[in-house]
Amino acid sequence: MKKRILTGIRPTGNLHLGHLFGAVGNWVNLQNEYDIHIEIADVQALTDNFNNPKKVRDNVTQLVLDLLSVGIDPNKSTLFIQSQIPEIAELTVFYSNLVTVSRLERNPTVKTEIAQKKELFGNNGESITYGFLGYPISQAADITIFNGELIPVGEDQLPLIEQCREIVRKFNSIYGETLKEPTHLLSTTSRVKGLDGNEKMGKSLGNAIFLVDNDETISKKIMAAITDPNKIKKDDKANPNICMVYYYHQLVNKENLKTVCAECKNGTRGCVACKKELITKMNEFLQPIREKRKYYAENPDIVKEILEAGTKKSQQTAKENMKKIKKAMMIDY
Ligand code: TRP
Repeated sequence: MKKRILTGIRPTGNLHLGHLFGAVGNWVNLQNEYDIHIEIADVQALTDNFNNPKKVRDNVTQLVLDLLSVGIDPNKSTLFIQSQIPEIAELTVFYSNLVTVSRLERNPTVKTEIAQKKELFGNNGESITYGFLGYPISQAADITIFNGELIPVGEDQLPLIEQCREIVRKFNSIYGETLKEPTHLLSTTSRVKGLDGNEKMGKSLGNAIFLVDNDETISKKIMAAITDPNKIKKDDKANPNICMVYYYHQLVNKENLKTVCAECKNGTRGCVACKKELITKMNEFLQPIREKRKYYAENPDIVKEILEAGTKKSQQTAKENMKKIKKAMMIDY
């Protein structure tokens, strides 16, 4: 039997290269070896977008198109929508008795996010909602209702997995051995830097290359990318390690990388030519993704079917597990 992977992603915007090289590309590889379940976490997205339901709804479709376009294969992976699995919400209520408020307030992931969302939660987090503070509990329910064994995450999400493990141990110690304790699967790929040189590419940072960007947008973004500030003339020698254009050559132009690097260093490559080459390579890289996306966008019935099949399968698993959980908790009437 293949081990089960459970992962989730919030539908709050289109995927960019950061997602692809940091997480989703990894899932595409993992789907060959594991029974991978990918949750479109719309309920979790609502915890900090409760006042914008249309954004979440529209992005569910966008996200599914993005995932299919990069190679998530519905014959290998199970794609489902969180809100369609009521057992997750039910289990969240049960788990909420097992977690103290102070433990949630100390969760580093939650703390960082509260600090980033001043507009929504106040300067000192004084307007934090019950739902947002408690989303680690809901995420523990996501994982355990499907017996998720391995959870692929980036470093920033590790505290959420740790909190899930604590909940599982507490549940099992009180109600009897019922739940599986998940383990994290740290992503082997790393973060992708933003066009502005920021350590992280992010939608809200305005420094991202999106999978849906067309030729023209790619051109504009790359032409404006930061290069070595000491290189003024086209035959000046430069340092590729402080150039964002070289940085992206590393991702999509591996075959010519040595030449790009050497010519940059010895001053035989101008930045404009270098950017043009990157634009071509980036578009070549994105082209098959765009074509696949177009196919699914033009065939909404196929997408609907994929989601329905995945959701149905997930509902079945969740139902079976909930039976065991309710029995253990003596609420199986
Ligand atoms: N919190 C994750 C994120 O923001 C998304 C997520 C929801 C998730 N449920 C999950 C990740 C379950 C792993 C397992 O990216």
